[in-house]
Amino acid sequence: MDRVGFLGLGIMGTPMAMRLAEAGVPLMVWNRDPSRCEPLLRAGAQHGATQDDVLRACRVNLFMLADEHAIDEVLGRGTPDFSRRVAGRVLVFMGTTAPEYATALAADIAAAAGTHVEAPVSGSKVPAEQGRLVAMLAGRADVVDEVEGIIKPMCRSIHRCGSEAGSALKMKLAVNLYLVTTVAALAESVHFAQRQKLDLDTFVSIINAGQMASPVAEIKGAKLRERDFSAQAAIHDVRKNSGFVVSAARSAGIATPMADTADRLYDETVRLGFGDEDMAAVVRAIEHRTESSSDAPDGGRRPAALEE
Ligand SMILES: NC(=O)c1ccc[n+]([C@@H]2O[C@H](COP(=O)([O-])OP(=O)(O)OC[C@H]3O[C@@H](n4cnc5c(N)ncnc54)[C@H](OP(=O)(O)O)[C@@H]3O)[C@@H](O)[C@H]2O)c1
Repeated sequence: MDRVGFLGLGIMGTPMAMRLAEAGVPLMVWNRDPSRCEPLLRAGAQHGATQDDVLRACRVNLFMLADEHAIDEVLGRGTPDFSRRVAGRVLVFMGTTAPEYATALAADIAAAAGTHVEAPVSGSKVPAEQGRLVAMLAGRADVVDEVEGIIKPMCRSIHRCGSEAGSALKMKLAVNLYLVTTVAALAESVHFAQRQKLDLDTFVSIINAGQMASPVAEIKGAKLRERDFSAQAAIHDVRKNSGFVVSAARSAGIATPMADTADRLYDETVRLGFGDEDMAAVVRAIEHRTESSSDAPDGGRRPAALEE
């Protein structure tokens, strides 16, 4: 197999690239902070000192960068470097961006004789470590065939969502809507159980034994019980993604009352100063509401301290 480029070794990128390395996919890796490349280099990957080294050496390149700004910066979008970096390359974007951003980026890449593929993933740090992500693919059918073969070792399943840019990301937003509301609801349940002075071990055991059991309930339930808010999916990133959901819903005139509430709670958590913690820390916004509305029975009201 030709060497594959991997750019962006954060919470998700590192375990994803590790799965590929362990499956024998020859890799060249690059990260803005080079120290994060070390585990991959120990696993046999080559190091690109710059993104240009990787893009020169590899025809197919996987990107797991934070956001749209990071992608534009790494590709030099809007500068003369952009065409040189993307021409003749297959660029596979696995992070979460707004669908309309992906449409515009795909057009720019096509104009510079490159090929854009969208491959956002559902699943967090633990599924990434286990090679159990769920990928959604969009792009030209023959290229998507090739990309599917490359990313298989990091995925439990791969789903084709169409050929148009934006179509896999719209699917990802629909899936994320369920995730962000589910984790906010679980945090609220734990908070309710705590304030009712219920035994949390018993509460979590009942959730895990019943119909609502799921990998998310198991992992986030344990984090909430332990108050272990080390990030698997950081609040600021989850807030970015819940923002994509509600803004896509507003543009299309779709009612999303649950997502709207969850989005406000993640936003409040960021504003309380917990943006780097795990998404389970959304419980902090709910606690803050309880503490600041002890005289108001309407727990759904935003606390005055956070009013714009
Ligand atoms: N965490 C999850 O559960 C999860 C699940 C599915 C999808 N996602 C999506 O996957 C993407 C990555 O998430 P993550 O949790 O891995 O994020 P992360 O840990 O914050 O990693 C972000 C990566 O982007 C790089 N980066 C940020 N700004 C940059 C810039 N201006 N120039 C170059 N590189 C830049 C970082 O490099 P440095 O190391 O140098 O900072 C790092 O490699 C996001 O779009 C996220 O929404 C996350």
